[in-house]
Amino acid sequence: MIRTVGLSATHMECRNLQESMVVMTDLLAFEKISEKPAEATLKHPNTHWLLVLHDGGPDAPAKQMHNHWGVRVRSSEEVDRAYEYLTAHKAQYKLGTIGKPTWSHGSYSCYFVEPGTNGWEIECYEAFNRKETTAQQFGAVKMAHWSEVYPEDRFPGRGYVPQGFTHGTLVATDLDSTREFYADVLGLEVHRFSDHVIYVKHPNTRTFVVCALRKDFKVFSPNFRNTLTVASKEAVQEAYLRFSESGRDWGVRELFPLEENGISAAFCFRDPGTNCWEIASPNRVFYD
Ligand SMILES: [Fe+2]
Repeated sequence: MIRTVGLSATHMECRNLQESMVVMTDLLAFEKISEKPAEATLKHPNTHWLLVLHDGGPDAPAKQMHNHWGVRVRSSEEVDRAYEYLTAHKAQYKLGTIGKPTWSHGSYSCYFVEPGTNGWEIECYEAFNRKETTAQQFGAVKMAHWSEVYPEDRFPGRGYVPQGFTHGTLVATDLDSTREFYADVLGLEVHRFSDHVIYVKHPNTRTFVVCALRKDFKVFSPNFRNTLTVASKEAVQEAYLRFSESGRDWGVRELFPLEENGISAAFCFRDPGTNCWEIASPNRVFYD
């Protein structure tokens, strides 16, 4: 098993960095931490997970809604107000389809498409969490991911306040082999949600990735990936050696070259469901 210390970042490919970034900051309460040509790192101030945007240019392939990310608000009324706000500002932010709020998997959610074709969800688990017994299910990922409420004066005038960046999504082609890979190779916590969906999270945090059985999925470039951090540069090198030796037996579909840069190191691979992941040292810098 690879000893990871955290699910540290997720990466989204867009078609125009500025257009996508303004949607993330103005509509979803992310803040920019750093920017360099064709790449920006964002973070919601109330949660730890980094969102790295990659500019894939105007011809970047269109993404599918089942590969979306989500932020969470505290009340169902906020989801309705988010729908109203997004609809009123659709042209200004070059948004694609905005779905009317719906109930699904215990959440009241509004789904929309940002200018780079990526899907986003504004979710609310207020009703689900009313019962303590249900709130604790699935690794408690539906409970609050933050320790303090993000105040409205930090995100005023919209009628809703995203409290944190909570989840991403991946595809599985075979749920059992995917579950084994995430648990036994990556050391992640896996919770069965339904016969075709598992939730995957790092044991240290509530951030989760919804992994659903799909047949109609596309394979995207490593611009779409999740980053797991290990303890050191040496730990990355050791993990790379193990992936080189045993990856095929574990179901790894593709192993990308090890990248070393000064004191940091990282490599990417595709899991049994073709999703791209990155193993990186803590000082792998998304900030400069
Ligand atoms: Fe979702």
